[in-house]
Amino acid sequence: VRVYVPRDSAARSVGADAVAEAVRKAAADQGRPVEVVRNGSRGMLSVEPLVEVVTAEGRVGYGPVAPEAVPILAAAGFLDGADHPLRLGVMDELPWLARQNRVTFARVGITDPLSPEDYERHGGIAGLRRALELPPADVVAAVTESGLRGRGGAGFPAGIKWKTVLECADELKFVCCNADEGDSGTFADRMVMEGDPFMLIEGMTIAAHAVGAREGYIYIRSEYPDAVATMRAAISVARERGWLGEHILGSELRFDLHVRVGAGAYICGEETSMLESLEGKRGMVRAKPPIPAIEGLFGKPTVVNNVLTLATVPVILANGAQAYQELGVERSRGTQVFQLGGNVARGGIVETAFGITLRELVEDFGGGTLSGRPVRTVQVGGPLGAYLPTSMFDLPMEYEAFAAAGAMLGHGGVVVFDDSVDMASQARFAMEFCAAESCGKCTPCRVGSVRGVEVIDRIVAGEQRDENLALLEDLCELMTDGSLCAMGGLTPMPVRSAITHFSDDFLAREEGTA
Ligand code: NAI
Ligand code: SF4
Repeated sequence: VRVYVPRDSAARSVGADAVAEAVRKAAADQGRPVEVVRNGSRGMLSVEPLVEVVTAEGRVGYGPVAPEAVPILAAAGFLDGADHPLRLGVMDELPWLARQNRVTFARVGITDPLSPEDYERHGGIAGLRRALELPPADVVAAVTESGLRGRGGAGFPAGIKWKTVLECADELKFVCCNADEGDSGTFADRMVMEGDPFMLIEGMTIAAHAVGAREGYIYIRSEYPDAVATMRAAISVARERGWLGEHILGSELRFDLHVRVGAGAYICGEETSMLESLEGKRGMVRAKPPIPAIEGLFGKPTVVNNVLTLATVPVILANGAQAYQELGVERSRGTQVFQLGGNVARGGIVETAFGITLRELVEDFGGGTLSGRPVRTVQVGGPLGAYLPTSMFDLPMEYEAFAAAGAMLGHGGVVVFDDSVDMASQARFAMEFCAAESCGKCTPCRVGSVRGVEVIDRIVAGEQRDENLALLEDLCELMTDGSLCAMGGLTPMPVRSAITHFSDDFLAREEGTA
């Protein structure tokens, strides 16, 4: 029998290691030979640890499985796919998964992340093979035609960025992957690195061929030790396999990769701070221009892309730009890997084409709040994203529609709050977060965020409410227009959205409304 128990850290945090051990023991007790495969997570986080048993019907899931439940499941015949209250059914037929369109996440949760054979059997390396048949400019053109935009949050067209690097004449160029996934409520990058690391390696290698780079770095946040270990192990396997190093897949391409670990600063997810940190310096934002595509790591032309962006490149090359471009709406092409979190009944990864509404995500996939109370708001796009009220739940998940609504999609994080949330506290938290994480280089952010906390405190204390609300608006305008980077520039977004949509929460506490 083959049984899958995830090695993803979300599953491990709720006992997956002990479950894997219990499965081995239960099988031995029954005298059944068992192969326990430690796969990535399917992203159905509410049923982790999820145990899947291979049967004639397909992979049958059971979850959430506590280690103590394994002997009981074994007695009930779960190794043969038998019925039990924890039996979820054949995984591929579960509506939650069947309704998704997993393109980037096609293999995550299916394969053994460190098995190169499994990777190739499930379509891996086809994109790199195709890319190596093409001249660099054609690879860049394919990425441009696919419509792929930067999944880190800003949504800049990946092909145009790559073209800028390709057109630089320098001998030395770099490909850097931003894996400093700092946004609250986001975890897709981590799941790629833990669940399908070869995909990221393949994407970076294709980027290297496309722009003429020989060296690459993956900058991973220190909070992700499992991702760091898995990426390092995958890089070693890829070198042995000839997917990295000299003469990659027998071609003239030479490229190698290194992992670097951050030290816990949110600002190091900003691309120029990340480059400073990679160079061994303190993570301070650089003024742009020059953009990293022209003067990046060690002053050389550098592709800086997020994990999801680079991880999507192999499938674009393998299946053709057209197939990817056909998905999505307007200028948001392809799929987005949404991450549902916060107070939500069924949190996890929902990959669909752009254009799905917030309501479908939160109500249909998410199943409403975990607390059972009404949903009051969702914050989309991390701590710098807007809070949206339920009256805006028909908004399509699409870059421009969100921008027009004073919001942003960001890295695809969707954090749900029920009606017990106090939005003045959330607004205060945005300013507090900015004050804590500011790199300190520019005044609107460094000083503005501290003043922002004070002004919000005065508003909820009922001190000259109208004057202080006007002052807060002034401060937001200054931070938006005058900050050097998105940290200070976007902090006003959650603050303004909270005031616009939930103004009652800013009434004085004495009035008993907060
Ligand atoms: P940006 O709009 O300044 O730049 C986007 C990207 O395009 C950068 O890589 C920039 O170098 C590049 N670019 C711009 N013009 C170019 C050109 N002509 N040729 C080639 N490349 C060019 O945005 P920024 O400051 O890089 O990112 C802000 C976003 O980051 C926010 O919208 C937010 O969603 C996101 N964010 C994501 C976080 C995460 O954890 N993933 C954390 C915090 C913010
Ligand atoms: Fe640093 Fe904040 Fe200015 Fe960005 S906006 S450069 S984080 S001080």
